[in-house]
Amino acid sequence: VTERSAVQSGAEVLVASNRGPVSYALGEGGELSARRGGGGLVSGLSAIGPEAGAVWVCAALGDGDRAAVRRSGGLLDTADTGGQRVRMLDIPAEVHAAAYNGVANSVLWFVHHMLYQTPVEPVFDAGFREEWAAYEAYNAAFAGALAEAAGPGAAVLVQDYHLALVPGLLREMRPDVRIAHFSHTPWAPPEYFALLPDDVQRQLLLGILGADRANFLTERWARAFAACCERALGPDCTAHWPRHEPPSVVAGPAAHRTRIGVHGLGADAEFLRERSRRPDVEERMAGLRAQIGGAGRKTVVRVDRTELSKNIVRGLLAFRRLLADRPEWRERVVHLAFAYPSRQDLAVYRDYTARVGALAEEINAEYGTATWQPVVLHVKDDFARSLAAYRLADVALVNPIRDGMNLVAKEVPVVSDAGCALVLSREAGAWVELGADALTVNPYDVGQTAEALHAALTMPAEERSARTARLAAAATALPPARWFLEQLRALEA
Ligand code: G6P
Repeated sequence: VTERSAVQSGAEVLVASNRGPVSYALGEGGELSARRGGGGLVSGLSAIGPEAGAVWVCAALGDGDRAAVRRSGGLLDTADTGGQRVRMLDIPAEVHAAAYNGVANSVLWFVHHMLYQTPVEPVFDAGFREEWAAYEAYNAAFAGALAEAAGPGAAVLVQDYHLALVPGLLREMRPDVRIAHFSHTPWAPPEYFALLPDDVQRQLLLGILGADRANFLTERWARAFAACCERALGPDCTAHWPRHEPPSVVAGPAAHRTRIGVHGLGADAEFLRERSRRPDVEERMAGLRAQIGGAGRKTVVRVDRTELSKNIVRGLLAFRRLLADRPEWRERVVHLAFAYPSRQDLAVYRDYTARVGALAEEINAEYGTATWQPVVLHVKDDFARSLAAYRLADVALVNPIRDGMNLVAKEVPVVSDAGCALVLSREAGAWVELGADALTVNPYDVGQTAEALHAALTMPAEERSARTARLAAAATALPPARWFLEQLRALEA
């Protein structure tokens, strides 16, 4: 009761995101079990600790979450959340599904990652308009909950493309609060963003411009956003990018100024090093070594959600090309590919998952022998096993088509036991910080990727360790807790 009234009386710091730091599973007997979420945002906010008094507003994502909301009245039991105050919103399931699957993941995600096959898609018609109305309702529900929970002059940090309309809506309801929006994705270049219906473009951009600060992972995505504003909003909008001062976008009749920030989320070295030395990780390492087999065999590792933008299919094609062009690697290298199921409500993700599985089987049928399985594909999400693979990898393959940052590229060098060569797409945000010591690839060029794998596998040990040390330093420059505090301070300044 005290906890709840504290929230009612007004939080000073609020975070809003679609997926929260905890999710609930509903057991057969109706019992609920809480599971802590992962990812940079979760560890970033957790690192500040409950004493900061922040409230995290998120959506209920399944039956378990909805039951937990009903049980708790919306403010989750802090025993389930590691002390974090979490307010979960029970947005009607069909509204959430249309907003999340229909608009956020099928349209906005596709635009920012440039995933459309444009001769046939996207098609914006009546179906889209219905989903767009749901996206508006879902954003309005968040804005309403934030307006209610925020104390006078509170700082509200809104996360991602799911909630692009929230800053604008919240500013109207609560002009006293300070608002930041963070894009964890790339931002589409203006010509590609222009695929969206004109009114939708304007709403999305003006939604984010309702914030005092619009934050991005790299300058490239920030500049793309500013360019989209100028192009879509016309003479009403000017982007300022002075050489020695922070950039901003000024828009609307009232000439509201939104500062543009770049905060490159880094890996959490302390957490990763401690976690990756625990017995469950050692156990997984033994298991993986048994699967790899063959003394002195090398390992190429990838760890991703099974996500279209991660480019897993071309990664497998590159590995196949390596075996075809350089037969000396047969029997001598294993590709450990971890592709964890994601967004399986969408047919295109299910098809992609199937394609990844089929291709791994094809390669194994083509090249495998009684004593060697070239591709070992794991699809069951297991963080300890991912860490085990990071530790023993000789080469990490991170080849996304486009990626806001990519934390795998940053985590591997931190955890690696004996140094790991990094093959990295120039289209990942992480490339800005890691490119100097990675082997850079064009993600579409399978032949080049195969050659980069060969170069990575043959890199001399000393060079590999030296590069890994520099990669680890660059990867941990802005750990999650500081990443979050940096945004908070900038908002309060
Ligand atoms: C991206 C988004 C995140 C999201 C994650 C997982 O990284 O930027 O906001 O949490 O994908 O996606 P999901 O749809 O499973 O929440």
